Amino acid sequence: MIPVVTIDGPSGAGKGTIAQNVARELGWGLLDSGSLYRLTALACIQQTIDFEDLSAIELIARNLPVSFQSVPDGLKIFLNNEDVSDAIREETIGMAASKVAAMGGVRDALLERQRAFVSAPGLIADGRDMGTTVFPQAPLKIFMTASCEERAQRRYKQLKEKGISVSLAALVADLKARDEQDSNRPISPLRPADDAIMIDTSNMSIEQVTQKVLELVKQTFS
Ligand code: C5P
Repeated sequence: MIPVVTIDGPSGAGKGTIAQNVARELGWGLLDSGSLYRLTALACIQQTIDFEDLSAIELIARNLPVSFQSVPDGLKIFLNNEDVSDAIREETIGMAASKVAAMGGVRDALLERQRAFVSAPGLIADGRDMGTTVFPQAPLKIFMTASCEERAQRRYKQLKEKGISVSLAALVADLKARDEQDSNRPISPLRPADDAIMIDTSNMSIEQVTQKVLELVKQTFS
């Protein structure tokens, strides 16, 4: 069986960076499942779809014209052949993604697309429901957390480096609102799988968390 490692957790806990590092280190594939919800939201906005029109949004999710391209420092993401790698990272798109992600039809539409990412030699899948819904049989499930303040600080730094200015207080408020929306939705809410290993990254460096996950992979699959 092809090994799958799931990494779930709230926004800004470091899942994306760690998943990328671990996948690169192992030479495995990477599923950034949040990007699919972000792409759905962006496509709806581009096509001025009403966010109450569930069937139109589901149709968009089912037919997303998306492609991924590996580049040395990560992944480039294209929607209709347009490079949207940066556009989908905006906070407004994150909030809109969280809204469409609460829709059962959208989640169903994206399920098989996510499972199709499994290919040899292995997959690192990052998101909110990787361990609970998409890959419940994965032998290694990780749930990554960090305090809300720490997560907001990290996001603040990331945005500042990109030249985007935001207030820290606004980021804390956005993260809290998104966590609440993701944790309280009835379908596939954000929660650890019963057999998930918890990692609190608040006081750990990226390097330390990467090494910790690599150790767990080694223990689980060798
Ligand atoms: O991880 P990221 O912040 O890119 O995800 C954007 C949004 O997509 C999340 O806030 C969440 O609502 C949704 N999402 C989800 N299930 C996943 C991944 C992301 O509901 N597996």
